[in-house]
Amino acid sequence: MTKLSVIYYSATGHGTAMADRVSKAAQSAGADVRVRHIAETRDPATFAGNPAWSANYEATKDLPAATGDDIVWADAVIFGSPTRFGSTASPFQTFVDTLGGLWMQGQLANKVYAAFTSSQTLHGGQETTLTSLYTSLMHWGGILVPPGYTDPVKFADGNPYGVSKVTGPDNQNPLDDTTTAALDHLATRVVAVAGKLAGAS
Ligand SMILES: Cc1cc2nc3c(=O)[nH]c(=O)nc-3n(C[C@H](O)[C@H](O)[C@H](O)COP(=O)(O)O)c2cc1C
Repeated sequence: MTKLSVIYYSATGHGTAMADRVSKAAQSAGADVRVRHIAETRDPATFAGNPAWSANYEATKDLPAATGDDIVWADAVIFGSPTRFGSTASPFQTFVDTLGGLWMQGQLANKVYAAFTSSQTLHGGQETTLTSLYTSLMHWGGILVPPGYTDPVKFADGNPYGVSKVTGPDNQNPLDDTTTAALDHLATRVVAVAGKLAGAS
């Protein structure tokens, strides 16, 4: 059975919903799934005026937080980060920066990786967020499995690099059917490719 970790940071909950959906799709595809959030690094008092951020913080703060072992354990990892100024959010990057020891031991290599993101605006930096994240995965010797245009849904969501959601001017767009289908496709594809690699080894 393919072991898959979903490791994500989310401030206002869009990433949490995307992680939940991609995890369920991976389970349906037959994977043993770990879902791990990257813990908030900011003092909750600093975002107390943002109800969505506070609600997501309260809903996730007692869940197990991601560690390097969640990558070592997995055959495949799907990462998630909001887009911030066209790149990953700093808590996500701080987590990545804890992985130097595992990288040196080669424990991040030869795994299947893919990712999702969200941004407030269309063309707001989603593709650069995904490709900058993938740069780190190449340093690890990861096996990138982007969705490309391998399913009709990719011609609808239009992102061959991963899956991305536009959260909208008030940052409140729900998860729409196209993005949901794209997350399902990403999970199914990652599980299938990881399974083929395991069968070949
Ligand atoms: C510091 C900061 C920088 C941001 N930069 C961008 C950006 O470059 N482009 C964009 O469209 N949205 C940007 N946003 C909006 C976030 O991408 C959006 O709120 C996020 O996708 C929500 O994801 P989450 O609910 O998982 O935290 C930014 C938000 C913050 C707080």
